[in-house]
Amino acid sequence: MTTNYFDRDVAERYDDLDDPMFSPAVLGPTVDLLADLADGRPALELAIGTGRVALPLSERGVRVHGIELSEAMVDQLRTKPGSERIAVAIGDMTETRVEGRFGLAYLVFNTIGNVTTQDGQVAVFETAAAHLEPGGLFLVETLVPGVRRLPAGERFAVFGHTGAHVGIDEYDVATQRTWSHHYSSEDGETFRRRSIPFRYAWPAELDLMARIAGLRLEHRWGDWDRRPFTAESAKHVSVWVKPG
Ligand SMILES: C[S@@+](CC[C@H](N)C(=O)[O-])C[C@H]1O[C@@H](n2cnc3c(N)ncnc32)[C@H](O)[C@@H]1O
Repeated sequence: MTTNYFDRDVAERYDDLDDPMFSPAVLGPTVDLLADLADGRPALELAIGTGRVALPLSERGVRVHGIELSEAMVDQLRTKPGSERIAVAIGDMTETRVEGRFGLAYLVFNTIGNVTTQDGQVAVFETAAAHLEPGGLFLVETLVPGVRRLPAGERFAVFGHTGAHVGIDEYDVATQRTWSHHYSSEDGETFRRRSIPFRYAWPAELDLMARIAGLRLEHRWGDWDRRPFTAESAKHVSVWVKPG
């Protein structure tokens, strides 16, 4: 059974407007590219969350559906104007199916890594492929595995350090598992730990997953602005097509 790490406590704090992922500088190019790829066709967001991307995309005239594991996240979406235009199925994106065929399916913000087995990640590609019309596109935005930041023999990397929060990524390169450990404090003295597991995959492994699901690589960019993907890219925005 899939664990829900986005419970009510997390969902109520998810839309932290100070997070750069909610800024126009990030959401503008994100929505521009998704609207362009949708090209007037309906879109399906896997792991739609609180609608960070789905709502502005829907405002651009794209008909958006969603699949989401956490009811608490969808409850937050439902508090927002415009959410009535977005149908959401509560379920696991490794197996949930919804009515309709889509020109675009997308899975953003590193969420492929929330599925922590290789079989599960393949199943996510199969979910996307099952919902696409011929010629339809599946877009994934995710980090390039951060293992190059690790000195030889080390398995921990600090990714944030303030008085209120310390973030440490833990890697197991044998299993491609990582854990993001968040230590949070209200008073700077007592810290509460929350750890979320991920599975990382190199772009080439995702390409094989896509092939298993009957898709083939169409684009790989280094970010939403379609900059080239290079050896120094920290993330990638990849698009696979379902042959027509
Ligand atoms: C980092 S949030 C991203 C939410 C939204 N896509 C965004 O960009 O803000 C990850 C979301 O994935 C959802 N999620 C994780 N595993 C899932 C699964 N197996 N099936 C469906 N949703 C899942 C979580 O509940 C959470 O809402």
